[in-house]
Amino acid sequence: MTSERNVFVFSNNEGAADFAVNKWMEIAAASLTHKDYFTVALSGGKTPVDLYKRLCVYKDTFSWEKTHIFLADERFVPAYDKDSNLGLIKEHLLNHIEIPDENLHTISTEDITLEQSAKKYEEDIRRFFRSEGDSIPQFDLIMLGIGEDGHTASLFPGASSLTVTERLAIAVTTDRIPHNRISLSLPVLANAKRIMFLVTGANKAKRVKEIMEDEECTLPAALVLQQSRGAWFVLGESAASLLCQKSTRQ
Ligand code: 6PG
Repeated sequence: MTSERNVFVFSNNEGAADFAVNKWMEIAAASLTHKDYFTVALSGGKTPVDLYKRLCVYKDTFSWEKTHIFLADERFVPAYDKDSNLGLIKEHLLNHIEIPDENLHTISTEDITLEQSAKKYEEDIRRFFRSEGDSIPQFDLIMLGIGEDGHTASLFPGASSLTVTERLAIAVTTDRIPHNRISLSLPVLANAKRIMFLVTGANKAKRVKEIMEDEECTLPAALVLQQSRGAWFVLGESAASLLCQKSTRQ
């Protein structure tokens, strides 16, 4: 499959976050023209904090009651832990908007094993999307980041989780990171209607170049791109600094 890639480069992180918010609004509006809900999966990490804060501006004007928020991945720690992705998203977005509890599709991390939690999250996703058998649900939008090693969500380079095809959510254990995690699987990420990678910082430039320009690249973010219909790369100038082609510069 040839996947389309759209690149948007911004001289500052605020510009990138504003652009991502505008795109979010457009995608949500388009999704809501043919069904009565909008589905989005969010990532953790530092980069999307600006985006989450800017979304709060729309607290009274966006259809949060029709929005279903899932997590692209979660660290296996309680929600009050400083490393929790849900904790981060609550702090910067969810605590500031009114969204029904049943629209939040979180990942259990307490009183449950890692594997049970992955299964439970998968069941929640299947129930919501009414997906049966080996059908892969399709999110309207998945927001992703890219780690310095090329990981995305919690799919890490060389991990066996990259070959999983029959699961929607997977348990991730690795010595490279301090916490075990739960992640949407590669087929689910790649099947989203829209994928937006939001990446800033010079430390990501080398990986961004490999992921976008090397067709043979096997880094997790590259696999998501290659297996998808296409993705948008919303990049800070320094993250984009090594790219040969920057089709759109803002
Ligand atoms: C997480 C993620 C992860 C993140 C990248 C980039 O929970 O850590 O979802 O995939 O998006 O590691 O993180 P930064 O934005 O902090 O660079």
